[in-house]
Amino acid sequence: MNHFSYYNPTRYVFGHGEYQNVGKLLHGRTKKLLLHYGGGSIKRSGLYNAVVNALNDAGIAFIELGGVKPNPCLETVRTGIALCREEQADCILAVGGGSVIDSAKAIAMGCAHQGDVWKLFTGEEQLSAPPLPVATILTLPAAGSENSPNTVISNPATNRKLGYGHELLRPMLSIVCPELFLTLPQEQMAYGACDMLCHIFERYFTNTPGTELTDALCEATMRTIMQQASILRQEPGNEAAWAQLALSGTIAHNNILGLGREQSWTCHALEHELSAVYDVPHGAGLAVIVPAYFDAVWRANPGIFAQWAVNVMGVSASRDTERVVQEGIRRLRAWYRELGLPQTLQELGIPAEADVAAMAAGACSVRAGGILPGVKALNQAEAQAVFEACR
Ligand code: NZQ
Ligand code: ZN
Repeated sequence: MNHFSYYNPTRYVFGHGEYQNVGKLLHGRTKKLLLHYGGGSIKRSGLYNAVVNALNDAGIAFIELGGVKPNPCLETVRTGIALCREEQADCILAVGGGSVIDSAKAIAMGCAHQGDVWKLFTGEEQLSAPPLPVATILTLPAAGSENSPNTVISNPATNRKLGYGHELLRPMLSIVCPELFLTLPQEQMAYGACDMLCHIFERYFTNTPGTELTDALCEATMRTIMQQASILRQEPGNEAAWAQLALSGTIAHNNILGLGREQSWTCHALEHELSAVYDVPHGAGLAVIVPAYFDAVWRANPGIFAQWAVNVMGVSASRDTERVVQEGIRRLRAWYRELGLPQTLQELGIPAEADVAAMAAGACSVRAGGILPGVKALNQAEAQAVFEACR
């Protein structure tokens, strides 16, 4: 196990109806906040009215900015920064999925930062002051942003989608209520489960020795995600299953499962290229990338892949490691299919003439030395081969 330092100050409030307490939970923490949300789902579900009433009852002043798009874009972030500065908002309440929360985090750091917020994402600048505090009410369990120190923003002007991480970006408060997920379309549940699972893959498949505790925690969380998503595929109104899936999604990405482990994030780097250029949903892109990536790298560490195949995918243990691993990957593909997820670039709606060489170059450009880390480090040509295998 490697050295680590872990800081997680998020107050995490979980349970049916807890969103009604948002005013009480924020009382005394803000003089005026920005209420930030997406394209309208919270208005259709009635959550918007409930939140506004709760803020009014607690005497909390607020301004608002809706319209965050999936794969949230820089333009909305810039609008939010200007609005918060003009109105002297001192806190941001994000009500939505990962896109709304990431947009809120980018606005929060852009308000405090002296320079250009996009240059934080490109690595040209370092955050010059602590971001404004962010609170969240989660409406889609998937990205894990409700308890992660990360934000991912798209800049359509440059066809880039880039992440930024800072320990002060973990929300001060996140409220998670399973009944808020009952209005989600089936495909969003599937994208979300796929994303959660990949957040664990990026941590679990490591060459770091001595990780038995976090291996076991990873395996339990992976099994739970797969079981509960399969239940929700049959019973989308099963609130108890949503509760387990949502908690799994937070645990998958708050880095408890990654403590002391060398991590990869290569599938994410590759997928962000697909989302940046073709605006595909993040979870759908991952369903295409992950099996092709596993095929490309498992031989570098067959032991950890065989352990996963047996402990998570239910393959019988055997000395024929290749057969065990291949069967594990086959079962993963079958589970993606069961959830209705795409398996090829074509099924993702990406044209045959897609410039995978440029996407491989883009993915490698954001990693040290142009190399994508993991159980097997990939250079640009190897990254391109993974994209080719997805066609
Ligand atoms: O915009 P509205 O109208 O709210 O509709 C949204 C959106 O169209 C809809 N939705 C959300 N909650 C709903 C609902 N529809 C009905 N009922 C509800 N309760 O769902 C659609 C997708 O929402 P989005 O927020 O885009 O999805 P998700 O939560 O999967 O977030 C994806 C984003 O998170 C980033 C991804 O790259 C992507 O941009 N990620 C962020 C991470 C982080 N900050 O730590 C880590 C992840 O790896 C990921 O990269
Ligand atoms: Zn993800």
